[in-house]
Amino acid sequence: MQTLTIAPSLLAADFRRLDSQIKAVKDAGVQWLHLDVMDGHFVPNISFGPPVISSVRKGTDLFLDTHLMIENPDLSLEAFREAGSDMITVHQEACRHLHRTIARIHELGAKAGVALNPATPLSTLTDILGDVDLVLIMTVNPGFGGQKFIERSIDKIKECREMIASTKRHIFLEVDGGIDPLTAPNAVRAGADVLVAGTSIFRESDPGKAVQRLLTALSSPQIR
Ligand code: DX5
Ligand code: ZN
Repeated sequence: MQTLTIAPSLLAADFRRLDSQIKAVKDAGVQWLHLDVMDGHFVPNISFGPPVISSVRKGTDLFLDTHLMIENPDLSLEAFREAGSDMITVHQEACRHLHRTIARIHELGAKAGVALNPATPLSTLTDILGDVDLVLIMTVNPGFGGQKFIERSIDKIKECREMIASTKRHIFLEVDGGIDPLTAPNAVRAGADVLVAGTSIFRESDPGKAVQRLLTALSSPQIR
C-alpha cells in the first residue's frame, strides 16, 4: 500500500496563532508543513518569505515543504534553504534553466521539486524527472487558497504516476489545490501520495480533527 503524506498549507492558517495551529496538526500525526510563497508577479497574490519560514522552523521539527510561486527563484534559493526549508519546489514555468535550478537546490542540501500549473503539459518534465525528488501537480491555478479542485487533473495525476514508475526512482507525487475529504480519495487513487490541504484543514475550528477527517476519508473501504 502507498504511504500517504498530508501537508497542511499554512496559507490558510490563523497567523496570530501559528504555534498552536502547527501543534494541532502535528498532534494529529502530520509530518510535513506546506509553505506557499507568493510574490505578486508569478501569481497575483503576495504571501510570506524567508523570515516567516525561519520563525516556523524555530518552533517545529516538521518537514518544511516550501512551494515557491515566484519569478526568478534562483535569486532566493539560498535564503529559503537557510530559513529551514527541507524541500524546495519551483515552478517549471518560472525557470528558464530548470536543470541548473534543481542542481542548485540539491547543492544547498535540500530536496528539490518541480511544480506544473494546470495548463502546463507533463511532457515538459520528460528531461528533468530523473533529477527531482517531487512533482507537484497543481489542481487549481496557483495564487489563492479555497479554490475548486479541477477535475481534469485526475488524468494528469494518473499519467504522471506512470511516468514516475518508468523512472524506477522514488519521486513524491504531490497535489495542491481544493483537496478535501471529497476530492482527496480520487487524487490518491490516481496516484498522488502527498496531499496539500489548506482550507479543508485550517479553516476548520479544530485543524487536528480536520486532519483526522481527511485520513478517515482516505482509508474508507470504497476508495480501495
Ligand atoms: C495555491 C497554493 C495552495 C493553497 C491550497 O496557490 O499553492 O497550496 O494553499 O489551498 P486550498 O487547500 O485551500 O486549496
Ligand atoms: Zn502550494
